Amino acid sequence: MASSYLLLVVSILCIYGGCGALAAIPAKIGKGYRLISIEETANGGLLGHLQVKQKNNIYGADIPHLQLHVKHETQDRLRVHITDAEKQRWEVPYDLLPREKPLPLRQAIGRSRKTLSTPTDYPGSELIFSYTTDPFGFAVRRKSTGETLFNTTSDDSDRYGNMVFKDQYLEISTKLPKDASLYGLGENTQPHGIKLYPNDPYTLYTTDISAINLNADLYGSHPVYMDLRNTGGKAYAHSVLLLNSNGMDVFYKGSSLTYKVIGGVFDFYFFGGPTPLSVVDQYTSLVGRPAPMPYWSLGFHQCRWGYHNLSVVEDVVENYKKAQIPLDVIWNDDDHMDGHKDFTLNPVNYPRPKLLEFLNKIHDRGMKYIVIIDPGIGVNSTYGVYQRGMANDVFIKYDGEPFLAQVWPGPVYFPDFLNPKTVSWWGDEIRRFHELVPVDGLWIDMNEASNFCTGKCTIPKGKVCPSGTGPGWICCLDCKNITKTRWDDPPYKINASGLEVPIGYKTIATSAVHYNGVLEYDAHSLYGFSQSIATHKGLQGLEGKRPFILSRSTYVGSGKYAAHWTGDNKGTWDDIKYSISTMLNFGIFGVPMVGSDICGFYPAPTEELCNRWIELGAFYPFSRDHANYYSPRQELYQWDSVAKSARNALGMRYKLLPYLYTLNYEAHISGAPIARPLFFTFPTFSKCYEVSTQFLLGSGVLVSPVLDKGKTKVNALFPPGTWYSLFDLKETIVSEGDYRSLDAPLHVINVHVYQNTILPMQQGGLISKEARMTPFTLIVTFPAGATEGHAEGKLYLDDDELPEMTLGNGFSTYVDLHATVENKMVKVWSDVAEGKYALEKGWTIEKITVLGLSGSGESFALEVDGSSVSDVSHVQLTASEQHVATDKLEDEGDTR
Ligand code: NOJ
Repeated sequence: MASSYLLLVVSILCIYGGCGALAAIPAKIGKGYRLISIEETANGGLLGHLQVKQKNNIYGADIPHLQLHVKHETQDRLRVHITDAEKQRWEVPYDLLPREKPLPLRQAIGRSRKTLSTPTDYPGSELIFSYTTDPFGFAVRRKSTGETLFNTTSDDSDRYGNMVFKDQYLEISTKLPKDASLYGLGENTQPHGIKLYPNDPYTLYTTDISAINLNADLYGSHPVYMDLRNTGGKAYAHSVLLLNSNGMDVFYKGSSLTYKVIGGVFDFYFFGGPTPLSVVDQYTSLVGRPAPMPYWSLGFHQCRWGYHNLSVVEDVVENYKKAQIPLDVIWNDDDHMDGHKDFTLNPVNYPRPKLLEFLNKIHDRGMKYIVIIDPGIGVNSTYGVYQRGMANDVFIKYDGEPFLAQVWPGPVYFPDFLNPKTVSWWGDEIRRFHELVPVDGLWIDMNEASNFCTGKCTIPKGKVCPSGTGPGWICCLDCKNITKTRWDDPPYKINASGLEVPIGYKTIATSAVHYNGVLEYDAHSLYGFSQSIATHKGLQGLEGKRPFILSRSTYVGSGKYAAHWTGDNKGTWDDIKYSISTMLNFGIFGVPMVGSDICGFYPAPTEELCNRWIELGAFYPFSRDHANYYSPRQELYQWDSVAKSARNALGMRYKLLPYLYTLNYEAHISGAPIARPLFFTFPTFSKCYEVSTQFLLGSGVLVSPVLDKGKTKVNALFPPGTWYSLFDLKETIVSEGDYRSLDAPLHVINVHVYQNTILPMQQGGLISKEARMTPFTLIVTFPAGATEGHAEGKLYLDDDELPEMTLGNGFSTYVDLHATVENKMVKVWSDVAEGKYALEKGWTIEKITVLGLSGSGESFALEVDGSSVSDVSHVQLTASEQHVATDKLEDEGDTR
């Protein structure tokens, strides 16, 4: 037998009052603007000047003159930037989110000129910008189809609003065709599923709403949506980003979408697609490619709040081992801290020598350790982190003093991560802590930022604010509501927290001040993002390793630095469902490493729910069991039945790790989500546009979990083609695009692989470090009964200790896998880039399983990398059966 090395490779109704309720129709609150001049600029863009038509004082005075700058920045990216022509306004800082700067303000432009150049069309390669002059409005069309993607034009006869631009209120609407399917605009619970639902509230403002029990603005802010249209059997996707960090309500009515924003500028980016994948590629090329994740982070993670001492943590690790359930990472919530203070250790419950001994032991096994860090720094004159923070003047200010808030340690100050000095101080604190405890990653929580108090607070005289859980949760500071400034009490009220509370509710006062005089009002939703950047920098400077950061609050571009979990979910059947929509949205937001607290944060899940949740959670990109302080223990081994489901589902995950890691690489180079809605692979199959109970890993692995109590069957949609069960390769579904009822007894999750796929798998194991050195199996799938056809797959292998995830550094290999079947011959080959690394590591393919060949009982020859595999003649390569070549395949280079 030939052997070879693996080369593997809101609304008018609530004017003046507040807009908790969502109005039915976007309203006109002004006559809009008139375009008084427009000219082409030296950089190939358009520069226009707008003048308000008629002033009013609803939500403040209109800004009289606006500057419009339009540019096709790339072949498929169009930018439309509108700001005050006379003075600089707040924008997402260019150093935080690097991008082209729009033209500087040219106040004189056009004032004297009343004539406009023609034509009104400004075409790029794929997108065309056009405008109307009076009132000013613009539209974006797709060149190839002529279809209008975005259209703000309005006249007095239609019901759409004119553009409004005031200091603290911006409004613009686009018309939409009824058949557009929209996705994105988060972070919201989205109880109606992944597809945006008309009249649901989409308020974007980073907020700590514990337990996702209402559809409100949650932890992150992502003002971007993807729009998928199916025109004449062809699918076209594009996306629209409004790069603005101020709080906003977005009203989606089905036939229109209206932004009502409380500051900043209109900075629209249109990404032409036309496929969902190319949209995310174009989006992440602007906002930042997703961070490369270390291999181990794709393993399973166990966490909980309330691991009171080190022995409990040690026990958890041992119990996982005993129960033979895979575990890569053990986490501490704030239990290891001294008085809930960041970067400290509790000397009694987590004595350093014992902790180091434990870490040595688990590190030797290949396991990792992660702890939590909150942004609030305890106000305590004997606490080094606080002392150094004060000495470096790193905190957000109010009335010239650090802004006082309360979180777990009691009174705290919040570091201002927009200040370069803070970034250095934070990096230094990370370094110091890492010397104390060699953690493998950091979890940054409460960074919306969350505050137990509202307003301007002082520490009550003679009273000590308790730290920690219990009474510490209640605001014990003396606080006064701040409503005197227009920042704390803006004229238009977004639907903050879904509760119509002031925007400073339980967060930093919006009139507090950051570095360079930046107002919290403007920068609020950037807090977690800026902390992620600072934390990333701190970790990267340490051991030169690839950082792993988990952040609760996120903004546009966060994926470049951090993973995300969906926060404090509930242990309910509703929340297990919501987790899928949020996860899929984050893929669209360019944050592909995402998951939810498996089994729910609180209240306690039932045993049945926990079974179903680990079956689903085993296929989240980020797979972690986490629970609240007051919840009963819910590690997977706590119930025999859950342990069994976990071994089954996580067992499969660990076999799929090479595939997941390759998806992680693809995410990093092209933004491609790891977990994807079905329409990413099947964009013309409109039946799948609303599917929020199933998802794809990559392009061809379909996960169909049970999400309902008492069910042992699942009704799953199968896009047209052949699907093979990954747990039982003989089980084949040939679908014409229909729903199938699948058996799903308690321990079973249905996972299927699509035709024309080559899926690289390994043998699995209890720790990813071991699993990744086991031999490979390639699952090659053809359509059922195929006599001819092809299949493709990819495999990326590297040294995940290195910060970069790249090819060409001598520590990585990329393999393009191909297979064909023709004339009773199956050929499998690979194109390998940088094969040396894989060769040195000694990875081998042990088995190739070919599925879907025609003619029961007929023989097929197998040729691998150009050599015929001689002793497979006895292997019956029959339809829909497992076909195996058992020998090791060894080879090198491009071997077609
Ligand atoms: C809130 C987080 O969402 C939760 O996961 C964590 O356990 C608590 N903070 C305590 O740190």
